[in-house]
Amino acid sequence: MRLPSEERLIVALDVPAAPEAARWAKRLSPAVKHFKIGLELFTGGGPAVFKNIPNGVFLDLKFFDIPNTMVGALNAAASLNPFLVNVHALAGPAALEQCARAVKSQRPRPRLLAVTILTSFTGPELRKIGVNVPMEKMVSRLCGIALEAGCDGVVASPLEAPRLRKEYGKKFLIVTPGVRPAWSAKNDQQRVATPAEAIRNGADYIVVGRPILAAPKPLEAARMVIEEIRRAGRGQKR
Ligand code: C5P
Repeated sequence: MRLPSEERLIVALDVPAAPEAARWAKRLSPAVKHFKIGLELFTGGGPAVFKNIPNGVFLDLKFFDIPNTMVGALNAAASLNPFLVNVHALAGPAALEQCARAVKSQRPRPRLLAVTILTSFTGPELRKIGVNVPMEKMVSRLCGIALEAGCDGVVASPLEAPRLRKEYGKKFLIVTPGVRPAWSAKNDQQRVATPAEAIRNGADYIVVGRPILAAPKPLEAARMVIEEIRRAGRGQKR
């Protein structure tokens, strides 16, 4: 998808309460156009969190339940007007189909992403839980199932994005967490890439949390990431 560089960055507001999130949004919004509200913030602050965060929220609650419950949760989520919502692809084809139908009946509607394999997962861990398919293949398989079910895109590691573009083309969203600028710490993320690599690999949006929130100068850090995205996007056809 063609997007201005500053719209490709989504900052993860992984803080426990609404006032703190509102402060971060205010501080970063001179540069940042999209914020992510995840499990920690939504559990701590509830729907009221939306009030002080500008439009363009990715509500990252990764629903994973029986189809009926997921559909109910997505309908409730859509009433908050996020631009992106997500579910786990591992919920299965039937659940994903019902979720996609539910989201598409909303006006305005968010885009529905399916989480493939979390970027904190490693190959040995995958085998330990009984998945004997290599990571990339598993991510690709889940992406295919999600797109066939009518999802608008996937959440995947930047390292898997090239394969997904090659196999499924350009007409779906790839959102990549696990993004680490060269100047930041890896934390608990395992399958990481820099913002430039993520964009060159085919990501539409990149999610960055700790490298920006924990930086000595967070607004400057966000601007550096956007500049890196801009440089990586130059000359790109997508
Ligand atoms: O701080 P950091 O940049 O690692 O934050 C990444 C964010 O992306 C976190 O909020 C995490 O929940 C989310 N995420 C992820 N891996 C996924 C899906 C979402 O890290 N597969």
